[in-house]
Amino acid sequence: MEKVLYNNIGQLLTLAGVAKKQGRAPTESDLGIIENAAMVVDSATNKIEWIGEQKNIPTPFRKLVNQFSSEGEVWLPELVECHTHLVCAGNRHHDYAQRCAGKTYQEIAAAGGGILTTLKHTREAGYTALYESALKELERFQKFGVGAVEIKTGYGLTLESEIEILEVIAALQKTTSLTIVPTFMPAHATPPEYKDRTDAFVDVICQEWIPEVAKRNLAEYFDAFVEKGFFDVTQTRRMCEVALQNGLKLKLHCDQFNDIGGTDLGLELGVQSIDHLDHVSDANIQKLGKADTVAVLLPGASLYTGTPYPPARKLIDAGARVAVSTDFNPGTSPSRNLPLMTTLACSQMKMTVPEAVVSITYNAAAALGLENTLGTLEVGKEFRVCSLRADSYEVLPYSFGEIE
Ligand code: NIG
Ligand code: FE
Repeated sequence: MEKVLYNNIGQLLTLAGVAKKQGRAPTESDLGIIENAAMVVDSATNKIEWIGEQKNIPTPFRKLVNQFSSEGEVWLPELVECHTHLVCAGNRHHDYAQRCAGKTYQEIAAAGGGILTTLKHTREAGYTALYESALKELERFQKFGVGAVEIKTGYGLTLESEIEILEVIAALQKTTSLTIVPTFMPAHATPPEYKDRTDAFVDVICQEWIPEVAKRNLAEYFDAFVEKGFFDVTQTRRMCEVALQNGLKLKLHCDQFNDIGGTDLGLELGVQSIDHLDHVSDANIQKLGKADTVAVLLPGASLYTGTPYPPARKLIDAGARVAVSTDFNPGTSPSRNLPLMTTLACSQMKMTVPEAVVSITYNAAAALGLENTLGTLEVGKEFRVCSLRADSYEVLPYSFGEIE
């Protein structure tokens, strides 16, 4: 069997110690840093066979024909982007201009802009245009070292267009080398057909949409936007219960602008991740500290909407599993730059550099339930590496999104 030896890797991070702590309160000593490292990969299975210091390479591996030098590189696990809304059409620069002129996200949404603007463009775009633009977005993510991407629906909001978006995601799973996780998010906004009748919209989601999507096996997760003017806790609970009965796992958008009880519900249901958390209560910070639920923080959305950043420091100090993501979407965070989010995490949310690295690798994988396959570099795991042209992993937030 063909084996490949990568040698002279300037610095390699295994993150093995991070996994032992479930990604909680990671410090530099958990990163498994090996200076001047080497790695042997079985090219038939793409699995890692050996990792260690260059000076300790076992003799048989030293004689391998296939050897590559990775001098001047830092290797860490492939980055994981755990929260995007990337299948959509059109742009929202007018929303942005209105926000700069003093309107809030919710005022724009209530006036029929916001998500509903993207809805109109997405419904009109058609399968091919949606597929091509999503593919381009994924390529942009890949340039930043990303190897896995979660993608939510939520800009169709008819059963037909939501399924079209899920089919685009299914096609991307087949045509790209990325790991792609599909999330069904019909409870993103109330579409025009149900204007002022959100309960009736929730009825149709529960009675028809979730069972149909589950029957077609098109989604792994269900997600909802729990927020004033969007979906309340009673509505969200109903949808989550039906989603669970239909075999979907759960994620929730909570506390982005207001705490209306979404995080309490998410903790009660033991959802995989609760995302945003900008206005999470102190009591729920403590509960997240003990829960398996991953706290996914989205500093790009805070930066772009000019709203407060989530309390990363308090969450990590309480013991929470904290991931960071771009939240890529046309309205509140049109960025594919996951490394830049670590700069915001460190400078604006006072995370340490090791915490930031873990938040876009191991903990982001945990937000998708994939921490046993992604997020660390260990013998027996797949060879999926993010390689930086640098002398230390510390360049990740330092580079201000301009990593090489
Ligand atoms: O995660 N919060 C809800 N959903 C997106 C925004 C979607 C949009 O404005 O188009 C978010 O920020
Ligand atoms: Fe989102």
